[in-house]
Amino acid sequence: MQEPRSESQNPAISNFKPQISKVGIIGSGTMGIGIAQVAATCGCEVFLYDANAAQTEKSLTNLKKVLDKLVEKQKISSEKSEEIFNKIKPCTELSDFKNCDLVIEAIIENKEIKTNVFQNLEKIVSENCVISSNTSSISITSLSSELKNPERFIGIHFFNPAPLMPLVEVIPGLLTEKTLARKMYSLMENWGKTPVIAKDVPGFIVNRIARPFYGEALRIAEEQIATPEQIDDAMRTLGNFKMGPFELMDLIGIDVNFAVTKTVYQDYFYDPKYKPSLLQQRMSEAKFLGRKTGKGFYDYAENAEKPALEKDDELYQTIFNRIISMLINEAVEAKRLEIANDEDLELAMQKGVNYPKGLLAWGNEIGYEKVSKTLQNLYETYQEERYRQSPLLKKM
Ligand SMILES: NC(=O)c1ccc[n+]([C@@H]2O[C@H](COP(=O)([O-])OP(=O)(O)OC[C@H]3O[C@@H](n4cnc5c(N)ncnc54)[C@H](O)[C@@H]3O)[C@@H](O)[C@H]2O)c1
Repeated sequence: MQEPRSESQNPAISNFKPQISKVGIIGSGTMGIGIAQVAATCGCEVFLYDANAAQTEKSLTNLKKVLDKLVEKQKISSEKSEEIFNKIKPCTELSDFKNCDLVIEAIIENKEIKTNVFQNLEKIVSENCVISSNTSSISITSLSSELKNPERFIGIHFFNPAPLMPLVEVIPGLLTEKTLARKMYSLMENWGKTPVIAKDVPGFIVNRIARPFYGEALRIAEEQIATPEQIDDAMRTLGNFKMGPFELMDLIGIDVNFAVTKTVYQDYFYDPKYKPSLLQQRMSEAKFLGRKTGKGFYDYAENAEKPALEKDDELYQTIFNRIISMLINEAVEAKRLEIANDEDLELAMQKGVNYPKGLLAWGNEIGYEKVSKTLQNLYETYQEERYRQSPLLKKM
């Protein structure tokens, strides 16, 4: 694999210091305003721009409420709340970003639109400014390759809600200057986050490894082996997951989760392991999108009847073994491909999606031989590539 570019190729970026003071954020939606709050809390001056100025106004009004709640709960003083709020400067023009040390883009997930914004930005900021994207699924290398100065470009991927979720994936692309990832890693530590460094692969760490949590659960439900309620209950009780896959998809938004799955599937050149589910597609088409539409796999109407839950120990064990074995296999494959080091692979799943344990440690606990056997049985039953084992699994 090609090495990232060397330090000497862009002296300006090599001089970049993690103690940056001016941060520009493009996009003031869910992620942008959350990242703005994180940066402002750490004392940065934040410039916030959105093509839709009304969105910035709305997000700032909501942020004020969030900060008031923190004061009420005595998590921060009213002085600190005011200080954080005043650090965020709403901007109506991208040209207000000219003195920024770092820009984080959090706009719509569309490569052409993002590229256009970066090309405009490059004309405004100094050559010392680091440009980054919070994209969940677009290749960092592909975004950087459209820039005049791709060495300064990097992925900085926060999780939702950004002020609460500790994980940040730092993703250098093939064209990113060699030392920039470490520098951004230190910066994220200074911002109180838990950073990990990930390779520029579809889904990075978390959105790749977590795919079977949803995909295998959907399969089990599609095949009428168990109901969503039973699958959720099995994963909560046997795996100690805070939420089961269906509850979580309802929270994330079934359309959003489906879109990530489709992107990962396409970007891995249609690897059958990541094949999306028809059930999820139909739910999206019906606009049963989860909590946000009042109905998803569960009904959120006030008077909705709770579906009966038939507990079944043997079935629960089968469900849990199947999903956890698929997840462990993904983590082992990520280890084999060095998508991140072991420590970061373990941290990412715990700090980005609240898994109760790292998957490699879990594999040890269950026994890799047992995991391998479960996958072998699934492979023999279905005769599908989906259940192929990582070549490393048998050596673990
Ligand atoms: N929502 C999540 O859970 C999540 C988590 C991690 C990463 N992300 C990524 O973060 C990015 C933003 O996601 P979000 O959920 O905050 O979206 P969002 O829809 O809440 O906000 C996006 C904002 O970008 C603005 N925008 C669109 N085009 C623009 C342009 N050309 N210039 C300036 N502003 C523009 C929109 O007006 C909107 O306010 C996406 O790349 C997404 O993949 C999202």
